Amino acid sequence: MAYPDHLTDLLEDFLGRIDYGEDGETSPLAEAMNYSLLAGGKRIRPVLMMSTGEMFGRPARELLPTAAAIEMIHTYSLIHDDLPSFDDDDLRRGMPTCHVKYGESVAILAGDALFAEAYRIICEQQEADAATKLAVIDEISIATGLKGMVGGQYLDVAGFDEGEESVRLLHSLKTGRLIIACVRCGALLAEAPEKELEKLVVFAAELGLLFQIKDDILDVVGETAILGKNAGSDERLEKRTYVSTFGLERSRELARESRDKALAALGEVVADTAGLAGITNYIFERQR
Ligand code: IPE
Ligand code: IPE
Ligand code: MG
Ligand code: MG
Ligand code: MG
Repeated sequence: MAYPDHLTDLLEDFLGRIDYGEDGETSPLAEAMNYSLLAGGKRIRPVLMMSTGEMFGRPARELLPTAAAIEMIHTYSLIHDDLPSFDDDDLRRGMPTCHVKYGESVAILAGDALFAEAYRIICEQQEADAATKLAVIDEISIATGLKGMVGGQYLDVAGFDEGEESVRLLHSLKTGRLIIACVRCGALLAEAPEKELEKLVVFAAELGLLFQIKDDILDVVGETAILGKNAGSDERLEKRTYVSTFGLERSRELARESRDKALAALGEVVADTAGLAGITNYIFERQR
């Protein structure tokens, strides 16, 4: 159940070679985009996406445009999440945040451009029949729109009902839905059977929850130098998190339960699931 490191290397290479076609005038914006994109995140989402595709027989190399697009969109979400009007953070991926380095307006535009360029790369470079490509684009749009990441970020900043169910909803929208999209896009591009896809969605929903519970725990117990972002950010902003709702010990138990549920759901899938199991364990044990 090893983590598929070879997929991270493939992705890094692809990201480093993206051509935005910028000219002299706009190249500082491309520099700001690459500053955040090439800063070495964990790359969990594209790795999850390619590992799912590989599981159903499509070589990872053929999935790179969509995998890169997902990482670009995730990076845009981080740039905006760190802005003064959101979490007001000054450290990300071990470096000053995009707005600290380039100013707020350029950081907003770097996020906007990463979002748009992500779709361009899928349209121009992803090999798939037109219907499949459209399904992939639709999936990513849903996962990042009101019923996904941006809806979740809205709840995060606007506040929402007290209660355990609402914090679960927050996490499933702001983090979980994009993680489901990774698995769905990998499966769609590899033409996985519909029945397996349904089981994978159950797996990914639990994995997404695990991912954000762990993120909330690390905000409290993690070390800034290892995280590459400031620990204690949630407490400073009085955010509703799993830890603020359930306490640290219960959150750790809930993370373990989510990992077990994710692995159990994965056990139902008829394919070689070792890569996805490796990713699940990595997310459970991660320190950054
Ligand atoms: C951080 O995501 C934002 C969340 C959704 C919790 P990651 O922990 O995947 O950040 P990187 O990509 O490794 O920097
Ligand atoms: C951000 O959640 C989720 C996104 C959609 C970007 P957090 O605000 O908890 O992410 P970190 O802790 O800053 O990485
Ligand atoms: Mg946030
Ligand atoms: Mg944040
Ligand atoms: Mg966080």
